[in-house]
Amino acid sequence: TTKVTTTTSSTTTKVSTTSTSSTSTSAAAQPSGAGPSRVVGKTPALGWNSWNAYQGNINDAKIRAAADSIVSLGLKTSGYTYVNIDDCWSDISGRDNATNRIKPDTNKFPSGIKGVADYVHSLGLLVGIYSDAGTTTCAGYPGSLGHETTDAQTWAEWGVDYLKYDNCNVPGNWSDTYNGGADYDWYNSNSALRYRQMTTALASVASVRPIQYGICNWGNANVWTWGARVGHSWRMSGDSSATWSYITSIITQNTYYLDYVGMSSCNDMDMMEIGNGALTLNEQRTHFAMWAALKSPILLGTDLSKLNSTQLAILKNTELLAFSQDTTIGTPAKPYKTGTTPPEYYAGKSVKGTHVFVMNIGSAAASKVVTFSEVTGLTCTSCKVHDMWTGKDLGTFTTSYTVTVDTHDTIALLIT
Ligand code: GAL
Repeated sequence: TTKVTTTTSSTTTKVSTTSTSSTSTSAAAQPSGAGPSRVVGKTPALGWNSWNAYQGNINDAKIRAAADSIVSLGLKTSGYTYVNIDDCWSDISGRDNATNRIKPDTNKFPSGIKGVADYVHSLGLLVGIYSDAGTTTCAGYPGSLGHETTDAQTWAEWGVDYLKYDNCNVPGNWSDTYNGGADYDWYNSNSALRYRQMTTALASVASVRPIQYGICNWGNANVWTWGARVGHSWRMSGDSSATWSYITSIITQNTYYLDYVGMSSCNDMDMMEIGNGALTLNEQRTHFAMWAALKSPILLGTDLSKLNSTQLAILKNTELLAFSQDTTIGTPAKPYKTGTTPPEYYAGKSVKGTHVFVMNIGSAAASKVVTFSEVTGLTCTSCKVHDMWTGKDLGTFTTSYTVTVDTHDTIALLIT
């Protein structure tokens, strides 16, 4: 059994523990049924993550530069908070022999993760770390399976605020044993148990450091059915790419599972690609608008210093971010008209009223008709239409509003 005592002093955060350390990959933190923290993670995470920008080529300077950019570019003012370090931060040669603790690669991070965390915190931002519910991470660095309690305590001491928890290199004895039964509860699958052990470990340090928990199991094991009981968000698929086909395919996928999205629980459509690849401006607008509309985390994934002013304006759009970060209504926009893949017409509520998002998935500009009687939740026939992108009122319309939507663009309206 593992006994954990946590002590907090006014100036420093110290987590001390008496535990039988385990070097095996068996359960280190028996799932207690404790859920994720309710102190953090109410709305989808807004921030930055190192992976799409740098993959494994990360270091102290790049993480600090990203944090600096979040402040200097005004992204912090817009609500971007998390500076998340992805794979390849730790010492690939393994854990500390004496303490069994995971160690930072001191060539990449000379002042450790604690040094970076202190700096990020000094800017008023929060810091995220990455690990894996297997023996090693996808890039071959130490994993946390069987070391959950030790690692949660280590991260809490360093000042970590967010964990992305990946799914590579799972030992054979942890394979799922789904028997095909219709009533099979994936919450009790080995996949979920691996993630629940970390929930328990994070709960044991939550009074010292509440840590937001992003499950990254790529949509395996029906994660949408148990994700909300285990973490704050869950990836739905393999990795993103800076392509229109990725954007449309993940939107399609998300439309099947939107009923699982709500306050403190969201489908993670993966990190943003704005600034990467050859997405057109319209495609970048759709990327951002739909991640906001469907309430995915929005974690920027590029070298922020290279974003141009148009891209920054997209990412800082006040009304779309407000929809994403609504602290009263957690429900995402949902398709109200089908017939295309992905659907083009979505509606959702915020404290301000009903919002409509219309994508044009066609390869030419097209006229789109928002027929008020078709929009879920809308009761007006003579309705005020407001453009969320520009912040301008468009006027009052009867029965419907017709607009030309450019190829691969998305319009966003508030209708009252
Ligand atoms: C993948 C994950 C990516 C990234 C990568 C790091 O499994 O989906 O987002 O974290 O591992 O190796």
